Amino acid sequence: MRFDVLTLFPGMFAGPLNESILKRAIQAGTINVVLHDIRAYATDRHRTTDDAPYGGGAGMVMKPEPLAACIRAVLSMAPETREPSQPPVILMTPDGEPFTQRIAAELATCARLVLVCGRYEGVDERVREALIDREISIGDYVLTGGELAAMVVIDAVARLVPGVIDAESIADESFSDGLLEYPQYTRPAVWEGRAVPPVLVSGHHGEVAQWRRRERLRRTLERRPDLLARAALTEADRAYLRTLGWNDPTVGEGAEHSAATKS
Ligand code: ADE
Repeated sequence: MRFDVLTLFPGMFAGPLNESILKRAIQAGTINVVLHDIRAYATDRHRTTDDAPYGGGAGMVMKPEPLAACIRAVLSMAPETREPSQPPVILMTPDGEPFTQRIAAELATCARLVLVCGRYEGVDERVREALIDREISIGDYVLTGGELAAMVVIDAVARLVPGVIDAESIADESFSDGLLEYPQYTRPAVWEGRAVPPVLVSGHHGEVAQWRRRERLRRTLERRPDLLARAALTEADRAYLRTLGWNDPTVGEGAEHSAATKS
């Protein structure tokens, strides 16, 4: 999979791409990250990429011409990755669609992504209209630019590309089925007076599996009860959650209760 990143600060990507799993995936050729310096597409003597906003106000806006020229140049590169269609051009911006594991999985099916990092107060709206296919936010907070957001997207998408990490870790992890992870332990069996849960050293695979499932349910109820509404739950899961005080929306009385508390 190929990622093209358009940025005014290509140097920011050196750290994350040169360590650990991403480094290995790049060395193995499983993923390819190509950085493009937007400033190289500015044509004036000072290589200007920003200007004051029309209508006044604080901050600077990214000028349309260098950014548009950069996007168009990138889209004309690597023709083999443009079949059967052009790669999506994605702007990283706090007013984009919230990034989730579902979007990461969707993007991981693309042969190529073009990620545009906004800077300053934003990007001229006409470039967004003309050249951007999708806008993604990594959370409800404002970063100094889209670079860290693009790194988050590259990291989350790259690990879903076949061959980057083992398939089992992906199938088994938080969010893939809408529940948080169970707690993990490794040796020693007792650390600073704290023993690992006895079931994990019992050798009973069935009991370990049930304990892990229940821990996932319990954690999700405690920390992210909002996720339970969309999680894939069995009848046994629901029964266990009800013992923890969960208000099962599929049970008549619970549904009436939650409706009553809302009004
Ligand atoms: N640029 C600045 N803040 C951002 C955010 N939260 N997500 C994506 N891009 C951004």
